[in-house]
Amino acid sequence: MREPSSVGFEANGVVSPTPIPPQPLLERLKDYGQEDAFALWDELTPDERHSLVKDIESLDLSRIDRIIRCSLRSQGLPTAAIEPVPESSVSTVEDRTQEERERWWKMGLKAISDCKVAVLLLSGGQGTRLGSADPKGCFNIGLPSGKSLFQLQAEKILCVQRLAAQANESSASSVQIHWYIMTSPFTDEATRKFFESHKYFGLEAEQVTFFQQGTIPCVSKDGRFIMETPYRVAKSPDGNGGVYSALKYSKLLEDMASKGIKYIDCYGVDNALVRVADPTFIGYFIDKGVAAAAKVVRKAYPQEKVGVFVRRGKGGPLTVVEYSELDPSLASAVNQATGRLRFCWSNVCLHMFTLDFLNQVANGLEKDSVYHLAEKKIPSIHGYTTGLKLEQFIFDAFPYAPTTALFEVLREEEFAPVKNANGSNYDTPDSAKLLVLRLHTRWVVAAGGFLTHSVPLYATGVEVSPLCSYAGENLEPICRGRTFHAPCEITF
Ligand code: UD1
Repeated sequence: MREPSSVGFEANGVVSPTPIPPQPLLERLKDYGQEDAFALWDELTPDERHSLVKDIESLDLSRIDRIIRCSLRSQGLPTAAIEPVPESSVSTVEDRTQEERERWWKMGLKAISDCKVAVLLLSGGQGTRLGSADPKGCFNIGLPSGKSLFQLQAEKILCVQRLAAQANESSASSVQIHWYIMTSPFTDEATRKFFESHKYFGLEAEQVTFFQQGTIPCVSKDGRFIMETPYRVAKSPDGNGGVYSALKYSKLLEDMASKGIKYIDCYGVDNALVRVADPTFIGYFIDKGVAAAAKVVRKAYPQEKVGVFVRRGKGGPLTVVEYSELDPSLASAVNQATGRLRFCWSNVCLHMFTLDFLNQVANGLEKDSVYHLAEKKIPSIHGYTTGLKLEQFIFDAFPYAPTTALFEVLREEEFAPVKNANGSNYDTPDSAKLLVLRLHTRWVVAAGGFLTHSVPLYATGVEVSPLCSYAGENLEPICRGRTFHAPCEITF
């Protein structure tokens, strides 16, 4: 053990000749049963002591204490039973008429050209399962173009802006979709640098706003902070539901209002087929006049790692039960009349909100101190320790919504999750790449193009640049009568 140093810190951070931890801070920690955070004080160097004091001072101890207590207490408490969302409450692909689709598409393009739509990207996750240290959006899934997920999304925004301007005879430069990108301390710097070094993928730098979500201490099962080092509390991002308080504290809801934005299209970074700012979905949302909506796909198999939309109690509010929290017997329960899974409406992490509702929820959810608890291996001074991460989820907002709607989309058109490293059995960059190539190949063939290929077609295909086509439209002039050798990218 090192000799205890004879220095401490005064409130202003100036080194002072006292060997004990700052008493007011220690007392506050004691109030919340977290005084163990100073357990190794005597062994720390002056710099380490300084870091520890700063680290603890940066925590809103009373808020964190409330969250930890409420979340631990709510574990195992009975909640209202969940009920399936009936087919009749969902806008299904089958039910939609051509006339409706066209009307919604036009309505969506109009709202975009009036600059009433913003997109909000949730990109604070750490991509641990993917095995990459970079933010997930930087990931190149191996398409012929080599584009990253961020680039694919940026180009979809560029394409939709152009379509909206054309449809409404606006000048191209007057239509701008603002892109709000939520990062976390783990992804922020690398994300900003990636955008800068790629010149914002052709977007205007000022139409992109980065902001950071918060973090929250990881705790043991009895609610005590886990120390990552003797002078730093282990912390993790507060979940993608942290977006509500992050928007509030970074004053971005005001920023949206000042720009005239009314509708926010919010999505996860890790879907290679995500339709960012989809005019059809936006038009549907506006037409329904609801406060919150989500795209859903039918669940592929009971154990699929997707959350499912449910009603909490008979006729109760719409919410999502995450895959990690759904009882396996309910996950595999079958509706005898239809032969389909009872809980079948999978969350693809694509939601629409009105700005009014976001304002309401940013205040309401903040007061709701019950977070989801996930048991994880946390790096700590004792090696990897089993502990709890606390998170809010983006869909925790749904029960607060006065009106909601679900919009079914086809998974082969809109859902190519990138979750696990290649070599895993599902949701890998390779599986996502194939889903993109298959869909784009169908578009090209439907537009009158031909394909040659030297590897089997099931393992390859063509990629259509989002700059050419958003959802398969306008491809005839480029494709009709032409032969493409797969794999390749089709662009202007
Ligand atoms: C998520 C959904 C799940 C859905 C599935 C579809 C949530 C909580 N779960 O699960 O219901 O069926 O996608 O693919 O939405 N993120 C942050 N900050 C965080 C944690 C995550 O911004 O603190 C972002 C990620 O970067 C990603 C998105 O949220 O863009 C989804 O997060 P992830 O943890 O990958 O969720 P899944 O478990 O795959």
